[in-house]
Amino acid sequence: PGPLGIAHAIGLARDFVGDDAFCCVLGDNILRGPALADIAREFEEGSYGAGTMLHRVPDPERFGVAELDASGRVVGFEEKPEHPKSDLIPIGVYFLRRDAFSVIDHLLPSGRGEFEITDVLNHYIPDGRLYSPIYEGHWTDAGTVPSLLRAAEMAAEDDAAGRLSRPVSRPVG
Ligand code: G1P
Repeated sequence: PGPLGIAHAIGLARDFVGDDAFCCVLGDNILRGPALADIAREFEEGSYGAGTMLHRVPDPERFGVAELDASGRVVGFEEKPEHPKSDLIPIGVYFLRRDAFSVIDHLLPSGRGEFEITDVLNHYIPDGRLYSPIYEGHWTDAGTVPSLLRAAEMAAEDDAAGRLSRPVSRPVG
């Protein structure tokens, strides 16, 4: 019926997902670095209920933001806070299991009228079932003009350095 948030969108995929553990990657998130498949396997083989990856950014107020305790453990995520409690954000890569659908069914919409993925992640923190490794590669979203430009620059750097398996500056034929 309309854009009601990432958690709502994931809820629409429940018949497709069936009983499998699954991963949702936001279309405007551009990653370069460690293979997602290896990170997903670590989630799937562990006893985690949900997961994301954390990344340090200069403008955390544009994203979900992690709050950490003195030992560096994530104690919660806040969506687009005015006063971010850290510069670590959950990037738009989510590892989930079927159980997430019942969490989604009980969510209330946020102040911006969306069903927030950060509320789903928060559900798994109190009993230590959130998987939240730091993503060691490069990451950018492409949701603003400057970040879209940054994404293009990342691809150009990789292409120039021969790091792309399918070069984008030359026709692939
Ligand atoms: C979404 C999530 C946010 C996350 C971000 C990553 O933000 O809500 O927690 O940090 O993606 O790109 P949105 O696309 O809704 O602004």
